[in-house]
Amino acid sequence: MLNREAEQMSHVIETHKLTKAFNSFRAVDALDITVEHREIFGLLGPNGAGKTTTISMLCTILRPTFGSAKVNGFDIVKEAHKVRKSIGIVFQDPSIDDRLTGRENLYMHANLYGVPASEQKERIAEILKLIELEDRADDLLRTYSGGMRRRLELGRGLIHYPKVLFLDEPTLGLDPQTRDHIWKYIRELKEAQDITVVLTTHYMDEADKLSDRIAIMDHGKIIVLDTPPSLKETLEGDVVMVKAANVEVLSELVGKWLGLEKKRVVDGVLEITVRNGKAVMPRIMELASQNNVYVESLLLREPNLEDVFLHYTGRTIREDSTRELYGMSAAQRRAIR
Ligand SMILES: Nc1ncnc2c1ncn2[C@@H]1O[C@H](COP(=O)(O)OP(=O)(O)O)[C@@H](O)[C@H]1O
Ligand SMILES: [Mg+2]
Repeated sequence: MLNREAEQMSHVIETHKLTKAFNSFRAVDALDITVEHREIFGLLGPNGAGKTTTISMLCTILRPTFGSAKVNGFDIVKEAHKVRKSIGIVFQDPSIDDRLTGRENLYMHANLYGVPASEQKERIAEILKLIELEDRADDLLRTYSGGMRRRLELGRGLIHYPKVLFLDEPTLGLDPQTRDHIWKYIRELKEAQDITVVLTTHYMDEADKLSDRIAIMDHGKIIVLDTPPSLKETLEGDVVMVKAANVEVLSELVGKWLGLEKKRVVDGVLEITVRNGKAVMPRIMELASQNNVYVESLLLREPNLEDVFLHYTGRTIREDSTRELYGMSAAQRRAIR
């Protein structure tokens, strides 16, 4: 009994059948997760999977329809106020005030979150250092790049020493170099701030690089939950990539040979998941030449989280997420500019 209590205490977050329904549609459906102290926990899934709805409930922005959850030991419904004080939130927020400087913005949030006046100056200096915005702290936000704004938002979320930080799509729409930067801050801050991070993303490389554990979500449910290496190991094999002039023809042939679920075409490249890639490669070349398909290149790679998602759902994350980028609201596009 004592052991079990101790174990439960160590969970920073635990949910029991946490559910959010919009009318009869369950955006989040009976979610059971636990997140440990100092973990970076990733929720990975395509657009509409229920990621934002999940963390909105944990942040007490949305009230669950059924089920319950505790964050830092507080009930998200009955003790919403205590939950809020103990967490930091970084959601896509176009409301960030352009007419303030970075430093002013941080002061505003320090006041909002009740950071004692005597601690504000030092805390803000510490945060500016962490997010490497010391040089630009006194410039107006309207002069900041998308990446600088996102860093400032991260800093804002940390100002009141939260125990858990929630990040909703922290690098949505940022260029690859800026994303690398943001990843670095997130990792550093876990080390420096003794904090637990829950992040949502539809970028499989982001989930892979940052998370200690990942819950892959689809249609409001968790499909599989594990560390990134373990998730990839479940596929037990290789991915063969074929670039060919007539890739659809080859794709059909490979489908007939190995089964439809083993292959897909991504950006004009045929990808085949097989147990022993090296053994399959010569046969693919043979199939191609017999059918007058010109193969430009043939590569072998390890499975990634996209392959894992495909394995469990039969779909790719990206199919849906490309649409999401184009479907973004004007406010979201402004926010990441
Ligand atoms: N306020 C709402 N009313 C009705 N449906 C909603 C609302 N918010 C989200 N949804 C729906 O719930 C599903 C999950 O949404 P969301 O949690 O935003 O997904 P994700 O963040 O994974 O893209 C989507 O189908 C979305 O359209
Ligand atoms: Mg979302």
